[in-house]
Amino acid sequence: MGVQITPSILNADFASLGEEVARIPSADWVHVDVMDNHFVPNLTFGPSMVEALARSTHVPLDVHLMIEDCDRHAPAYVEAGAGSVTFHVEATRAPVRLAREIRAKGARASMALRPATPVEPYEDLLPELDMLLLMTVEPGFGGQKFLDMVLPKIRRARDLVRKHGLETWLQVDGGVSLETIERCAEAGADVFVAGSAVYSADDPDEMVRALRARADT
Ligand code: DX5
Ligand code: ZN
Repeated sequence: MGVQITPSILNADFASLGEEVARIPSADWVHVDVMDNHFVPNLTFGPSMVEALARSTHVPLDVHLMIEDCDRHAPAYVEAGAGSVTFHVEATRAPVRLAREIRAKGARASMALRPATPVEPYEDLLPELDMLLLMTVEPGFGGQKFLDMVLPKIRRARDLVRKHGLETWLQVDGGVSLETIERCAEAGADVFVAGSAVYSADDPDEMVRALRARADT
């Protein structure tokens, strides 16, 4: 797989989400940020919203769970039609069991790390994951400033994936823009979430293509 762009609808117009998703036909995935007001101080969607979105588009949904008790709630998002489900390592009690359950139900299993969570303790877990998400802001809100401090961790994660001969995708999320995407790609990321960069652009689909081109160079 080459570079993939997954626009986040967190900064889209929630009153017309179907149309907002239809504005980005060039996207590889649509990133859906699920927040519960506990793991992060913000509240967004649940499984029924994911199910409605899945019915409204052919673009697969990349669901990012920022919720407590993801061990209990994650499977419902696979059943709702997500193509990929990401849980946070800081919120799960049983990451191996949860990743296996997500895969067994038919979605790609992915695990996220907050900016201060190191990747090394999870090296042996990588074969259980289809994707590793390295947060480049503290999760909770769109439009925050990209954290350069995460770049060395992206490099170390890429080295671990390579060392084990894995195909694990490396996703970055938070503050990704035309200005920061090259640094992430150069460090080894290959899946890029972009929220405000895409939805504040005059032509969101053009921005998706521009981001992909920038990451590809
Ligand atoms: C933040 C979310 C992100 C957010 C990214 O907690 O996980 O997906 O929507 O938004 P930008 O690209 O504006 O930082
Ligand atoms: Zn996200």
